[in-house]
Amino acid sequence: MQKKEDYHQPVLIKEVIDHLAIKPDGIYIDATFGRGGHSQAILQNLGEKGRLLVIDKDPSAVAFARRQWGQDKRLQIFEGSFTTVEEITKTNGIYQQVDGLLLDLGVSSPQLEQAERGFSFLRDGPLDMRMNPKNGISAAQWLACTTEKEIAQVLKEYGEERYAKRIAKTISEARKQMPITTTLQLAALVKKAHPRWERHKHPATQTFQAIRIHINNELEDLVTCLKQSLEILAVGGRLLVISFHSLEDRIVKRFIRKHAQEPAELKRLPVLFTEWRPRLKKLGRGIKPNAQAIAENPRSRSAVLRIAEKLS
Ligand SMILES: C[S@@+](CC[C@H](N)C(=O)[O-])C[C@H]1O[C@@H](n2cnc3c(N)ncnc32)[C@H](O)[C@@H]1O
Repeated sequence: MQKKEDYHQPVLIKEVIDHLAIKPDGIYIDATFGRGGHSQAILQNLGEKGRLLVIDKDPSAVAFARRQWGQDKRLQIFEGSFTTVEEITKTNGIYQQVDGLLLDLGVSSPQLEQAERGFSFLRDGPLDMRMNPKNGISAAQWLACTTEKEIAQVLKEYGEERYAKRIAKTISEARKQMPITTTLQLAALVKKAHPRWERHKHPATQTFQAIRIHINNELEDLVTCLKQSLEILAVGGRLLVISFHSLEDRIVKRFIRKHAQEPAELKRLPVLFTEWRPRLKKLGRGIKPNAQAIAENPRSRSAVLRIAEKLS
């Protein structure tokens, strides 16, 4: 039985399954297992000889996978970052043989909803925000040791926060009085510093997003994993990525374009002089959830699914 605190409603599930075009005996990787919503649907479409490898850097996601599906012989479970996907395929004899790789980026519902994980500005908890609490430093430790300038840079770059400098200054002043160790403490400071509150949006939304992205090295890891996807997929294999904000989506869109479309400067050269060959074929445009899906799962409202097929 799945407990309520272990529930994550998968986003764009039908679209993911349709576009993975699952072969019953194919090899698939769900590199962001979470609570296995997508994995479960992939398994339902796999035959006895099919294989599904799942990865998550969050030990609680991996423990859930082992509890729930540890007995399924088609499934292999890996704890770690999806930046190790190339190594995983090599050590498991499936390098360049993967028929589909899925990345459903960002945080899971259990991560957001469990106050002790420190991701939420609505729930009081230790200011942690690490997807893998055994690795790296927490958000509280980072805020304690970094410069005001770096805080402002992170808020601007990863949160696209217009008032980054102002918020960074408030944080920097406040930590002289008392260390910032809880989520609500940080949320209150941002509220105080933020001059413009939008309706239906907590003023700390972008600050929390930015710090989370920084602490978990999210964008750099995405770039690394996308590069590896070119190597691990079989020809004809598919890459599916669900992003939840424009920074991620821009990286995915540019990556697919770079490998699917000949650069304009090369197009002008005679064919003989260019070695350029597309490595990917872009399949359709970004897919977004429809109004009904958003009503059923408001967290999906910013999701975009992009798909590409490996050509060479
Ligand atoms: C949006 S959730 C995935 C939900 C999942 N598709 C489901 O239906 O349950 C994202 C998951 O990816 C994991 N994750 C994020 N970045 C990761 C990385 N670099 N390596 C491995 N796992 C990562 C998070 O820990 C989280 O569990």
